[in-house]
Amino acid sequence: MKILIINGPNINMLGIREPGVYGTQNYQALLDLVAKIAEEEGLEAECFQSNHEGAIVDRIQEAYGKTDGIVINPAAYTHTSIAILDALKAVSIPAVEVHISDVDNREDFRQISYAGMACEKRIAGQGIDGYRQAMIYLKEKYGKA
Ligand code: DQA
Repeated sequence: MKILIINGPNINMLGIREPGVYGTQNYQALLDLVAKIAEEEGLEAECFQSNHEGAIVDRIQEAYGKTDGIVINPAAYTHTSIAILDALKAVSIPAVEVHISDVDNREDFRQISYAGMACEKRIAGQGIDGYRQAMIYLKEKYGKA
């Protein structure tokens, strides 16, 4: 099973950005965690990070017909991007939304999630472990060939 992990703007700054909110582990630690889970669970996982909305739309489109599941943390674009929502709907790949922080208990402007409208599950406030939970959810639901 192939899983694409997409991270939006500033996720590459993990470990540096607001450690009280996002933790002290850096983006490389997230990449290492994804690789470890993939190996343990027998998944093929690819990570993509971009600070650019259009690049994220392009990557979702490229996944059409080639990826069995998407784990996406659109970061700030969660709350603004209808383009990412439309791309997820266009490809119809099962998707899980992940947020490192507990977005539900943060500012009002973080309370809407456009991308989440095209995701079948949402994991928030679990730190980078949320990515593991999302990968395992997709494997359990869609990975049994
Ligand atoms: C985030 C939450 C977003 O509101 C924020 O803009 C981010 C990261 C998270 O993982 O908690 O950049 O998606």
